[in-house]
Amino acid sequence: MSTITSTQISPVTSLFLNDVLDGLMAEKKFLSSKYFYDETGDRIFQQIMEMDEYYLTDAEMEILQHQTDELADVIAADPSAFDLIELGAGDATKSVHLLQALLNRQLEFSYLPIDISQHVIEDLEENLPKKLPALNVEGLNGDYFAMVKKAKSMSGRRKVLLFMGANIGNMDVVEAKEFCKALRNELSPEDLLIIGFDLKKNPRQILAAYDDAAGITKSFNLNLLSRINRELDGDFEVEHFDHYASYDPESGACKSYLVSLKEQLVNIGDETVRFAQNEHIYMEISQKYSLKEINDLAMETGFTPTAHFFDHQKYFVDAVWKVGK
Ligand code: AVI
Repeated sequence: MSTITSTQISPVTSLFLNDVLDGLMAEKKFLSSKYFYDETGDRIFQQIMEMDEYYLTDAEMEILQHQTDELADVIAADPSAFDLIELGAGDATKSVHLLQALLNRQLEFSYLPIDISQHVIEDLEENLPKKLPALNVEGLNGDYFAMVKKAKSMSGRRKVLLFMGANIGNMDVVEAKEFCKALRNELSPEDLLIIGFDLKKNPRQILAAYDDAAGITKSFNLNLLSRINRELDGDFEVEHFDHYASYDPESGACKSYLVSLKEQLVNIGDETVRFAQNEHIYMEISQKYSLKEINDLAMETGFTPTAHFFDHQKYFVDAVWKVGK
């Protein structure tokens, strides 16, 4: 079997390798959930979104299907032309409702989806015009902040940023605060951020969403080990790892771990990592918020909360924040 050396690999793979080795050589092992989303991971995440236990997708979809007009009213309160920038657009199945409502009002705007995946952007640029022929789409492939900067250089119009799907939950509260501050610094007074949060609710319901009976979330986590095998010349035996999810109702942190079922050595390229029996790897946080925590986050990071859109069960909220006091 070939081992990878630094001369053979692309900068992207080299970053992945460094992050993986940093995490697995640390005293408390961790891997970054941003690496969940290779082709297989994308497919498993689609299955997660269709699971009975995973209430988040339906809840946010309900908001976008039934309250789009109200959301469009908030955006159209300022009659000037704007750029609607979506961070992590995916296939835009949710945003398409909002885009339609904005087009119906004949507002002057462009849609700038940002995604780290070139494939996602190509798909959107090909398929969205078929659904919404009047829409002006300009896909941006790359890192969120680099692409927001690029969008700013492309036009001086006001910006409306969409960051939906509770993606903010995959940062811990400290990272989320830094992220919101950094976004604020890219925006101008009166610009809007529309941001989705999963709300604190019955702890059993939250836990079930991340510990489903069919084991789909388990395979989502284990896929990262398989990805390391595929891309970084690893030899994880995934059957010797189990998935463990926990939810702390006090802090709102829902965390996923993989637990080594035995003492084992795993090779990754030229390195060897030792796992003790029952040693865990911290894989992902899905942070849940109260409405007060969401409003505090807005105000601590330079925004003013201006509107909230809830699903009928109040599981989820799309919050509208305006830049400035
Ligand atoms: C993408 N993100 C908002 C999902 C979440 O709910 O934290 C990822 C996920 N992980 C396990 N299930 C879903």
